[in-house]
Amino acid sequence: MIVTVMDYWNYIAYVEKPGIFQLFMAGPLRALVFIHTALRNELNELAEDARLVANGSGDLTALKERFDWATYALHYHAAGEDAALFPAVEAKHPGVAMTFDDDHRTDDELVASMEDFFTKTDEDGALETLAQLAERLADRASLHMDKEERLLVPFVEEHFNMEEQGAILGGMMQVFPPEFMVKGVPWVFSHLDNGLQISYATALKAAMPPEPFAMHMSNVEQRLGPDAWAPIAAAIA
Ligand SMILES: [Fe+2]
Ligand SMILES: [Fe+2]
Repeated sequence: MIVTVMDYWNYIAYVEKPGIFQLFMAGPLRALVFIHTALRNELNELAEDARLVANGSGDLTALKERFDWATYALHYHAAGEDAALFPAVEAKHPGVAMTFDDDHRTDDELVASMEDFFTKTDEDGALETLAQLAERLADRASLHMDKEERLLVPFVEEHFNMEEQGAILGGMMQVFPPEFMVKGVPWVFSHLDNGLQISYATALKAAMPPEPFAMHMSNVEQRLGPDAWAPIAAAIA
């Protein structure tokens, strides 16, 4: 599975498979839009749920489950960038990735603080604080991902050749555990609009061997249901 994930976005895929190459003519790191979109939505929904719980009308157990998944996904996405994207940028252009790395550390502190408040939800003000922290995390992480897409990705595309960009994305993908991908791929699809769903499915088909691709698409079909799955199935037929 790990090898499959590595193969998913490596440079060879971009060179040998014209479909995916054309999809991301600006460069392979444009694929960040898929997980960024899912994370933005998930963190916004987490903040909305936390506000409901603070107002006395939400489900605390469901909130903790959503918090655990959202921050698990956020953690591995950031870990991938910490491992492969930021070091590559810093090696060539010292200081450029510093502010993005600092954002990750601040998010870590916010998540740790929320974990602490989840252990004392019966204390006065704890649920209100949790709601405020969830709103802050959603805002900060969203701004951070916007900046990565608007500033850092174009910078990398300008200063790294296509082989280097493919290696960066391949290195990021290596950090994802297989169990994350099994749940994470359908989860990403669940947060995309129809156009992005088809782009993501087309990209996966172009870059993945048939067997894991079929496994992931079966999971996506189950997650989305027949109506939402139909146009995706038609696009990858
Ligand atoms: Fe990031
Ligand atoms: Fe990111």
